Amino acid sequence: MADFSYTDAIDQAKTAALAYYDGSDEVMTDADYDTLLDRIREYETANPDEVIEHDLFTAVAAGVSAGGNVTHDVPMLSLDKVTDLADIETFADRIAAAGGTISVEPKLDGMAFNARYENGTLVQVSTRGDGTTGEDLTSNVLKLDIAGLPKRLGKGLADTVNVRGELLMSFSDFEFSNANRIASGRPAFANPRNATAGTVRKAELPYDVKVSFVAYDAVGAEPWELELDGFVLSSALYSTTETDIVAKVLAFGQDRKAAEFPYPTDGVVLKAVERNVRDSLGATSSTPRWAVAYKYEAETGISVIRDIVEGVGRTGNISYTAHYDPVLVDGSTISRATLHNPSKIAELGVGIGSIVEVYKANDIIPRVGRVIENPEGVTVYVPSDVSPSGAPLDQSAAIWRSLDPNDSIGALVAYAGSRDALDIDGFSTAIADALVSGEHPLVNDIADLFTLQFQQLANLSLGVTEKGTKRFLGAKTAEKILANIDAAKQQPLNRVITALGIRKSGRTFGRRLANHFHTMDALLAATEDDFLTSGIEGVGPERAALFHDGFQRNRPVIDKLRAAGVNMGEEPAAAEDGDAAARPLEGMKVVVTGSMSGALAGTRTEVQEHIERLGATASGSVSKNTSLLIAGANAGSKVAKAESLGVRVLTEAEFEATYL
Ligand code: IVH
Repeated sequence: MADFSYTDAIDQAKTAALAYYDGSDEVMTDADYDTLLDRIREYETANPDEVIEHDLFTAVAAGVSAGGNVTHDVPMLSLDKVTDLADIETFADRIAAAGGTISVEPKLDGMAFNARYENGTLVQVSTRGDGTTGEDLTSNVLKLDIAGLPKRLGKGLADTVNVRGELLMSFSDFEFSNANRIASGRPAFANPRNATAGTVRKAELPYDVKVSFVAYDAVGAEPWELELDGFVLSSALYSTTETDIVAKVLAFGQDRKAAEFPYPTDGVVLKAVERNVRDSLGATSSTPRWAVAYKYEAETGISVIRDIVEGVGRTGNISYTAHYDPVLVDGSTISRATLHNPSKIAELGVGIGSIVEVYKANDIIPRVGRVIENPEGVTVYVPSDVSPSGAPLDQSAAIWRSLDPNDSIGALVAYAGSRDALDIDGFSTAIADALVSGEHPLVNDIADLFTLQFQQLANLSLGVTEKGTKRFLGAKTAEKILANIDAAKQQPLNRVITALGIRKSGRTFGRRLANHFHTMDALLAATEDDFLTSGIEGVGPERAALFHDGFQRNRPVIDKLRAAGVNMGEEPAAAEDGDAAARPLEGMKVVVTGSMSGALAGTRTEVQEHIERLGATASGSVSKNTSLLIAGANAGSKVAKAESLGVRVLTEAEFEATYL
C-alpha cells in the first residue's frame, strides 16, 4: 500500500466536504469519504504530536458556518416508504378502515425546514436535521427573498405556529440561479437540491438566486389558514381526474416529468386527509401511521463500456471516464460518466466490456449504477499506477495524483486560457491539448502562449476528421486567438495569479491574493508566514505552505510572463498615465443588465454614464464585440446570450471587486 500522507488526506477530505456543501459535483463517494476520515482519525491517534487543527470531525464540515442547534417543539417526523404498488393498496385499506380518505401529493425534492412564527412574525428558520434537532439557518434564509415564505402571518392564529415544508428551487429557479452562479465564475450546481442546500448554507451570496418554500404540514394552524397567508401547499400542487389511488400515483409519475410540473420530485406522499383520522392512527417515534411515501424508480438504461479514459486535472488529480454506447435515458442520450477513483472502480467491479446499468443522478448527471454482467474475458479495470507520462502516482488518498507537471500541463494551459483566468476568447481544451503534445510541444508552460507565432498556430494539428482528413487550426482562428492572447496581457493581476493554477487556488484566491499583495513581486517576496498572517479569508497553514511553494516554483514562468509583457501589477496603466487609474474600463465595450444596487446603482442611463466615465463604451445589447456584461439583480436573457457568445459576464459585486 502506498504511504499515507496525513496532510494530503486532510486536504482531500476538506475539498470533498466543501464540494458537498457547495453543491458542486461530488469529489468522492460517501463511502470513500468515511474511509478517509477513519484513516485520518487513526493517524491522529497514533501520532498525536502531528495533529493539525481542522474541523472535519465536527458535525458541520469544513468551512460551513453553523448557526447552532434548534430543538423542534414537536418532532419533525419522517415517512415510511412503500416500494411497490401493492403496498399502496394495503395502506389505502388501512386508511379506509379508519374511516379516512387519502390525498396523493408530490414528494418534493428539496430540504425540509421548520418556519417558526411567534405572534404572527417569522422568528426562526431551521433545518429538519434528525427530526428532533435541526440547524438554525435563520439569518441565511432571511437574507433571501423566498417565494411562499411570508415574513408575517394574518391575524387570528395561535401565538406560536410552526410551518413545516420544503425549501427548494423550481426547475426555472434552478436555471436562473445556476446561470447567475456560473456567470460569477463558480462551478455549476449539480441539481436543484444541491443548489438549495448550497444556497442556504452561505451567509453571503455574490450572485442572485430564487428559492421557494412549499408547506406540507403545520403545528398550530390548519392548511387553509396557511394558504390565505401566502403559503403554497404541497397538497394543492397536483390534481388529476383519476379516482383510484394507484392510478393517481401512476398519473403523477407520468405528469411529474412533463414540463408543466415546476418542482423536482422523487415520489408521492399518501396521506389521510382528516385530522381526526390522523389523530386516531397516531405515530411511531419516527413516522406517522397516517402517511407513507412512494418513490418512483429512477429511469435507467443498459449499455456496454467501450473504454475507460484516464485524464489529469490541472493540479494533477487523475480522473477516470467511462465511455459507453450512447443510450437514451429520461429524454436525453448519454455516453460518458465519471468512475470517480480507483476504489470506486473496484467497488463497482467495472471493466472495458462490462454490461452496465446507467442512470442520471438526480435526473441530471450520468452515472454508472452497477455492473449487470462481465461477459467472459472481461476483467475489472486496473487503474495504471503511473501517469500518462509515466510518472509514479501519489496513491495516499482516494483520488490519485500525479506529481509530474508534464501530466497536468494540458489541463493547466486550458485553465489559464479559460474565462475564469486569462479569458482568451476562442481558446479551447482541444487547442490546449494540441499545443502541449507532440515530441516538440509548442507550449511547455503557460508563458509560452505569449510567444506563439502566427504560422505555428495556423498550422496547429487538431487530429483528423471523421472522414480521415487532417484538421488544422487555420489562419482565421489563429489570427483571432493571437489577438486575444495579446489582449490578455492587460488582464488584471488577479487573473494572472489564477492562471498560474497554484494548488488550492482558483478565481477567488486569485482575487484575494491580488487584493492583499497588489503586485506579483510582493507575492514572490512573501514568506510562508506572510501568507499565514495575511488575514486573507481561507488561508490557513495548508494554503500558506502551498501558496508559498506555488509562487516560488512558478518563478521561472512568472519571469517569462513578465518578459512577454503580461501585467504583473494591480493597475497596469496607472504608472504611465495618471488618468488611467480612474478609467479602468478604457477601450472596453460594456453592457449592463438587471438592476444595480451597489456602486453602480441608478437609472439605466446613469449606470451607462457611470460606465463611460470609467472609460468604457456602454451599449444596450450583447454582441460578439461586447467585452463585458455586468449582470445585476433579475438579469434576464442577456446573460444566456453573452454566455453563448463567450462574452465575459460579471455580477455587480464582482465587477466592483475587479474594477472599482
Ligand atoms: S409529510 C408528518 N409531505 O419527505 C409529516 N413530506 O420522508 C411528514 N417531503 O422530511 C412529512 N414532500 O422533507 C410530507 N408533500 C410532502 C413532502 C414531504 C417532501 C419530505 C419531507 C420529510 C420527508 C419524509
